[in-house]
Amino acid sequence: MKYGHFDDTNREYVITNPKTPYPWINYLGNEDFFSLTSNTGGGYTFYKDAKFRRLTRYRYNNVPVDNGGKYFYIKDGDTTWSPGWKPVKTELDSYECRHGMSYTKFKSSKNGIEAQILQFIPLGFWGEIQKVSLKNTSSETKKLKLFSFIEWCLWNAEDDMINFQRNFSTGEVEIEDSTIYHKTEFKERRNHYAFYSVNTPIDGYDTDRESFLGLYNDFDSPEVVDEGAPKNTIAHGWSPIASHYVEIELKPGEQRDLIFMLGYVEVEKDDKWESKAVINKKPAKAMLAKFDTVDKIDAAYNDLRAYWDRLLGKINIDSGDDRLDRMVNIWNQYQCMVTFNMSRSASFFESGIGRGMGFRDSNQDLIGFVHQIPERARERIFDIASTQFEDGSCYHQYQPLTKKGNSAVGGDFNDDPLWLILSTTEYIKETGDFSLLDEMVPFDNDASRAKPHFEHLKASFYHVVNNLGPHKLPLIGRADWNDCLNLNCFSDDPNESFQTTGNKKGNTAESLMIAGLFVVYGKEYVKLCKRIDKDKEAVEAQKHVENMIKAVKAHGWDGDWYLRAYDFFGNKIGSNENEEGKIFIESQGWCTMAEIGKEEGMVEKSLNAVKKHLDCDYGIVLNSPAFTKYHIEYGEISTYPAGYKENGGIFCHNNPWIMIGETVLGRGDQAYEYYTKIAPSFLEDISELHKVEPYVYCQMIAGKEAFKPGEAKNSWLSGTASWNFFAIFRR
Ligand code: BGC
Ligand code: NOJ
Repeated sequence: MKYGHFDDTNREYVITNPKTPYPWINYLGNEDFFSLTSNTGGGYTFYKDAKFRRLTRYRYNNVPVDNGGKYFYIKDGDTTWSPGWKPVKTELDSYECRHGMSYTKFKSSKNGIEAQILQFIPLGFWGEIQKVSLKNTSSETKKLKLFSFIEWCLWNAEDDMINFQRNFSTGEVEIEDSTIYHKTEFKERRNHYAFYSVNTPIDGYDTDRESFLGLYNDFDSPEVVDEGAPKNTIAHGWSPIASHYVEIELKPGEQRDLIFMLGYVEVEKDDKWESKAVINKKPAKAMLAKFDTVDKIDAAYNDLRAYWDRLLGKINIDSGDDRLDRMVNIWNQYQCMVTFNMSRSASFFESGIGRGMGFRDSNQDLIGFVHQIPERARERIFDIASTQFEDGSCYHQYQPLTKKGNSAVGGDFNDDPLWLILSTTEYIKETGDFSLLDEMVPFDNDASRAKPHFEHLKASFYHVVNNLGPHKLPLIGRADWNDCLNLNCFSDDPNESFQTTGNKKGNTAESLMIAGLFVVYGKEYVKLCKRIDKDKEAVEAQKHVENMIKAVKAHGWDGDWYLRAYDFFGNKIGSNENEEGKIFIESQGWCTMAEIGKEEGMVEKSLNAVKKHLDCDYGIVLNSPAFTKYHIEYGEISTYPAGYKENGGIFCHNNPWIMIGETVLGRGDQAYEYYTKIAPSFLEDISELHKVEPYVYCQMIAGKEAFKPGEAKNSWLSGTASWNFFAIFRR
């Protein structure tokens, strides 16, 4: 069953049934200021960092799902309705939500009133626009009452959800003309505030949530809306909101456009106040003046469209299959930009409070994006490399606001450093710009420890060489790309994190995935050294690559496929000898891409084994058979029920590795068949089962051993986007 359709000409997905099987969302914003918007008006907004600068509140995993957002209530006589269907959920005469490139549009109607909302963030702007157009299509004059609604977050999204003993007393607002200012904590250490405004005189407002909603009401029937009159409340603590009230009279055929703006302002420390306790509103007013007419809004919207025309104009295919073309030409590239901006931080599955930018994630995201904005990719490479140490190891994550390594998570994921060679060499291939190799880049964010960027690549390469195990294969550390293969963790305490706990000393467990990865990017490193006349280094590095190939052939081959790892005790993982987890996808992907043992037939056997043991109707599962009991020596991977996530789920990120592996053998048709199983546009007709958006890849589809094979989760923020794009273009 479908819930809408693609409009390729406009580069939009058009949702025509608001009751999608899961909220189908879009991302607004391209640089510093971002919003997430669902097809029913749910979502949230932040500046740069979803944890530290959250403007509006969102309750994840809510009941019902996706409750809270940027809402409008239209009261027309006895009928109240919302253009996005939610929160009121009055049955609409028509409903349409168009998710486009960094904008979302709603168009719906009820009882002779047509409402349109255009929602977007102008380029380079720290504010979001909602252009609300109301038209009377009936033959009678209509008197409408319009209420807007957003709920402020008290900036730190994590603290906002837990520290109620403080937070219920800190909230502060100011109101001037049609603008509601949110200034919680401004009087102390913050140099920023937010505002929500409309470009017309208002007939009232509310800023106290409880007064607006009523303590026992839900978002669908706020007391103020039910009663048809605002209370003009000023929030003191509790939960500050911003709601405007506007009375609108429309003659038959008449249309009225209102411009709402949600903005963020930073001021200098000594320029915070207009007068005692009154915040400096000058910058906010300047922002409002910039976009106070429909013409200005339309021009900014056209600029945004032109910007995406330029970005998407760089690569285009015409394959004869619309489903492929629209992925490659539109949605895949769009998703790559979103993953580049967000890493894994903010979605409806990622709460934006846990994870910053991932070292490996961001390097991989970059390969799907570098052709669009190479300058930003260059800067990103340096940001990532700055969180590395001299021995090549690195922080696993960093916070986008501070660009500093996250010490709570730490490091020791031994695949991490290698991905820097991937991003850097892809950047050079795309741009021909070798100069970044000479740029001075700090270690551990310490400028006094800066070295040319090339030294970071060298450190990455030798981090593997210097950390080999008993079979001369790479030690795994806490885990490799598969965060859940925790071979040194040995946790029997449910309060321990699999990601950060290492109960055993990790100098025996080895990874065949890192071995393959090392051969692929080791070869790239050697090529690079040759190109920049570092011949001695090239010869030296080549030896290490060859040694690794030998080690894989001698200790990493199981007869029909590549092993996955050796555990802490030196036992094989991913071998026919194992009862569960006999074969894994990651080492098949990387060792075939590395062409290890191609002449001896290993690549072909490995890929045939993938087809036989891992392929299913919905994609290629991660391992088979899935684990059915907890193996303390394997860690988190064996905690998931069979068929889900890293335990036998279709972890879409790694499927393109097999596709690329297939191309090593020239088996393009097989590669394409795999692609069509996980590409969302090919799954549109089974949206009811698939659940998540048919326009973006997801992280995981339940595998063949799951309770409900084919059901997907974790859409949007996944390395799947960049790797599929790469699989289609680079090989
Ligand atoms: C998930 C992984 C994720 C990791 C780090 C694990 O629980 O299964 O997919 O990368 O946590 O957040
Ligand atoms: C999601 C993480 O973001 C990524 O870094 C990791 O490689 C995969 N999970 C696999 O575990």
